[in-house]
Amino acid sequence: MNLPETIKHKIREYLIVFARRLGERKKQGPVIRNTKSIASKEIKIPSLVSFIITAIIVYIMCIMDMGFNSSAFVAAFIFVSVMAVFLITQLRERETETLKDSDAVVLMCILLITGILLLQIAKEYASPFIFPVSAFAIIAAMLLSVRIGVLYALMMSLFAGMLSEMRFDVFFVMFCSGCAVIINIEKIRKRSDFVSSGFKSAATSMLIVSMFYFLDAYSLHEYLKILFYCVLNFSAAVVIILTLMPLFEKLFSRVTNIKLIELSDFNNPLLKRLMVKAPGTYHHSLMTATIAESAADAIGTNSLLARVGAYYHDIGKLKNPEYFIENQSGAENPHDPLTPAMSSLILISHIKDGAAMAKKYNLDREIIDCIEQHHGTTSIHFFYHKALEANPDASPDSFRYPGPKPQSKVAAIVMVADSCEAAVRALEEPTPIRIQETVGKIINNKFTDGQFSDCPITLKDLQNIRKSIISSLISVYHARIEYKDDANGSL
Ligand SMILES: [Fe+2]
Ligand SMILES: [Fe+2]
Repeated sequence: MNLPETIKHKIREYLIVFARRLGERKKQGPVIRNTKSIASKEIKIPSLVSFIITAIIVYIMCIMDMGFNSSAFVAAFIFVSVMAVFLITQLRERETETLKDSDAVVLMCILLITGILLLQIAKEYASPFIFPVSAFAIIAAMLLSVRIGVLYALMMSLFAGMLSEMRFDVFFVMFCSGCAVIINIEKIRKRSDFVSSGFKSAATSMLIVSMFYFLDAYSLHEYLKILFYCVLNFSAAVVIILTLMPLFEKLFSRVTNIKLIELSDFNNPLLKRLMVKAPGTYHHSLMTATIAESAADAIGTNSLLARVGAYYHDIGKLKNPEYFIENQSGAENPHDPLTPAMSSLILISHIKDGAAMAKKYNLDREIIDCIEQHHGTTSIHFFYHKALEANPDASPDSFRYPGPKPQSKVAAIVMVADSCEAAVRALEEPTPIRIQETVGKIINNKFTDGQFSDCPITLKDLQNIRKSIISSLISVYHARIEYKDDANGSL
């Protein structure tokens, strides 16, 4: 068959991208399940039960489509079995975390059933080309994982081809349009980006349909009709994503990167209040966020969550900003008239106040974790030693944060980035050597204090975090020294 060179190239491109996607690890860390959202109770249906129920429903749907005869019964049984085995094998090998999450499995099954149902409606009343496989592939990729998004696009395209009397063109157009949006999934940063994704998907469909037209698969009339369906497909994709995505986000308690990006908007009322009422804390949070983001990247965990978690980690200081050193202008220290025990109580209270504020503003569980865990059960040395001077029997427990210790790698990164940023900012002359020593000491102390005992962080991770934080802090603070030296020299 003599295909034009551009079309051959396009097909080759799609196959390469598909193969790459299927073998690709999730770059931005796992999608997070927010355990305290409106659907606060995890759906406790064993994954196998969900799969069996879904397989039975899909089988019945196929039979209804193919006709009630013995050949259809057998053909549908073979097809559904092959699909089920293919899906479960892929998930067991590469998506073990998703398989353990019953919410995620139920979501996946609902997406499959809804997709097949809509496909059948589209096919019955117009054409399978209207069915927006790209919309469902995006939802699966964003709420579950990129790999599941690709698997979904593949499976739905196979279903579409099979249920349309084994039409290869239907399968191929759908699969390519699904992959076209998944290629750019990392670029989706706001909800309006879905429109351009829908556009790309429709354009890809039109291109592939044109390929089939030039291969004499359609008459001109059919060709124009299918092109019109592709335009309808674009509209349907945008509507489905914009309605189903927020619904599933809430119903299945999943925090997507889009949600995190929305939280990182500086117009968010909490961040705005922090900027006005506690400018020192605000600046410290921005610096901590930059450091934490790079450190999270260095160990391959969710850097966006680390950044957003750091933005909000100290919002509890909004209640008494003047009691925290970064907000003191130097005139008078409000801790002077207080006992060390009282001072430490005020400092410790920023954890509880922050968590309460975060809940009031509906922040997600993962962000609240960063707030509650960023000091772990560390001790407030300064006030403890001050208390010891007055009373040698002072209990160290009264000067410790209540915890919990970091439970995730991201929470551990926020903890370390927070301490390192504050310590290096307090250095009189933050030379590279001093920054290196300070960061190394902080990480060692937290490690020997057992602060990382509840999270799955490894020594290799800590080593990479240390290197990343040192490099971030040197690039910020050392540049400032050089600038100061230059400025002094010129005066
Ligand atoms: Fe703090
Ligand atoms: Fe902090």
